[in-house]
This record gives sequence, structure tokens and C-alpha cells, in this order.
Amino acid sequence: AATAEAEIKASSDFKAGATKRAQASARPPPVVDESVDPEEDDDEDEEEAGESEDKTDKDSSEQSAGEEAELSLVPYSNVAYSESEMLKRATDFANLLSRRRSCRQFSERPVDPEVVRLLVTAAGSSPSGAHTEPWTYVCVTNELMKRRIREIVEEEEEINYARRMSAEWKADLAKLRTSWEKPYLTEAPVIVVLMRQVHGWRSGREEKRQHYYSEISVSISAGLFLAAVQNVGLCTLTSTPMNAGPALRRLLGRPPNEKVHLLLPLGYAAHNAQVPNLTRKPVEKIMVNI
Ligand SMILES: Cc1cc2nc3c(=O)[nH]c(=O)nc-3n(C[C@H](O)[C@H](O)[C@H](O)COP(=O)(O)O)c2cc1C
Repeated sequence: AATAEAEIKASSDFKAGATKRAQASARPPPVVDESVDPEEDDDEDEEEAGESEDKTDKDSSEQSAGEEAELSLVPYSNVAYSESEMLKRATDFANLLSRRRSCRQFSERPVDPEVVRLLVTAAGSSPSGAHTEPWTYVCVTNELMKRRIREIVEEEEEINYARRMSAEWKADLAKLRTSWEKPYLTEAPVIVVLMRQVHGWRSGREEKRQHYYSEISVSISAGLFLAAVQNVGLCTLTSTPMNAGPALRRLLGRPPNEKVHLLLPLGYAAHNAQVPNLTRKPVEKIMVNI
């Protein structure tokens, strides 16, 4: 049975490409919304030549049995605070997050794997379009694998900086002192490669399962991950290795329906780590009350 969310989306306008695709189908049109990029299925990264999808291999993007059944309703439950407690917690949390920085220099000190598991658990609490949970957190601690990741990223970044990035982009980056070299990818004890599942599978992997707003969903999950990292005093770097996605996906043995969304080296900051002296917009500049 369609959820209320799906019904609302089904009744809204959708993109011409997606409309055509729905009309071409002999089956009842799938629920389509504006978030589904009609070009996405054609992406060469998703279905690479010569790569056959193993229909027997279960992965995290497969819908589990019973998920299609209508869900029962349970009472909403949340913790409650007095207004003064609320104010204190809101202040403390804002202060905690205001100290979050993207760190590019890591200590090699290992991180407790149970902490990493709990950070991913927190990230997995994210909302997602029609509860499709389109994320996979690939946590790499293997030294050889980290070295390969660095090699792949640096190889592309060297070309990115030399040829692919515009002069304006490079000028904007200059103040952050980033370059094609990524030593943090081997220094950090963990590299979390956040994969976005472009689509999932219905039970049995006979049929693709549409993922709605997967970019937004995965990005919200990433935000929760960053907050969870900050909450335990570790640090990470939100990074987007341009053009390295397909090679990284293959290296990590992830299925073709997944795309690299973010590369998040994770660990303790190096004792002498430095960050650009940035300022943030004051709340008055980012908040509008109507
Ligand atoms: C979507 C996104 C992509 C980013 N990509 C990179 C990247 O590829 N390399 C990098 O060094 N930093 C990257 N950053 C980090 C930004 O440079 C950083 O967030 C910004 O300078 C603000 O600094 P702060 O995170 O310390 O507040 C990225 C951040 C975001 C949100």
C-alpha cells in the first residue's frame, strides 16, 4: 500500500523525463517525484560496461521482507525537558557544534571501532525520502586500502587542480590552502566512504526500488554523522573527490547502484593541527523571522 507521503508525491507535478518513463511502462506507473533525476539510470558509473549485477548477493540496499506491508502506528515518544533545561541544552549544543571544524591533519591514534559503529548508528537515524535509507557507510581501517584510496584520489585531484577546476574555484580554495595532495587519507585511522544508493532492490532483487530525494537524504545523514563525530571529540573532513568516485566504488567492492557521496577521514586531530581562520555568518544573517 502506498504511504501518505508517496500519495502526495504521486499527485504532484513531476519531470517530463520521468513522466515519459512512467508512461512507457506497461505496469502501473511507479511513484515519481521531482527528486528523481531521470538521467540517473543512464549514468555510466551506475551500470558500467561488462559489469553484471549479481542478483543473489544480498546487500544493504535490498528491501527487507515485510517492509512493503502497511506499518502499524505506535505512540510517539521523545524525551521532555523544562524550558530552562531546553535553553541550556540548546546553548550547549550550539556551542559544541560551533567548534566543529574540517580538519586536514590527523593523529594516527586509532579510534575505538565501537565508537565508529555508534557514530554510524547515529547517522542511520536520519530521515529519508519515503524511509528508503539510501546510505552505506563504508569504514576503511585497512592500511593498504587507505593507501589505494589516497592514490586514486590524488591521481584525479592532480588533474582537477591542473585542468578541470575553474580559475574562480581555485581562487576560492586558495585561502583554505588545499591542494591535490591528501596526506590525511593515509594519516587518519579511519576513512569513512559514504555511499549513496541511487536505487534499492525489492525483495529478491528482481525489481529496482525507487529512492526519493536520495541526495538530500544522504546529506542529512552526513550532517548527523558530523554532529555525532563532534559530540565525541573526534574530527573529520567533508570531502568530495571529483572524478574518483567510480574507481573508489570498484576498489571498495560496492555494487553499481551505489555512488560515492562523501569521503570522510575520521580520527583525532593531530596535536599541531591548524585550520583556516574562518568566521561564520551571525545568526541574524542566516535567520529570517516572518
Ligand atoms: C559539500 C562539501 C564538499 C567539500 N569538499 C571538500 C574537499 O573536497 N576538500 C576539502 O579539503 N574540503 C572540502 N570541504 C570542506 C570545506 O572546505 C569546509 O567545510 C569549509 O571551508 C568550512 O570550514 P569548516 O568545515 O571548518 O567550518 C567540503 C565541504 C562541503 C560541505
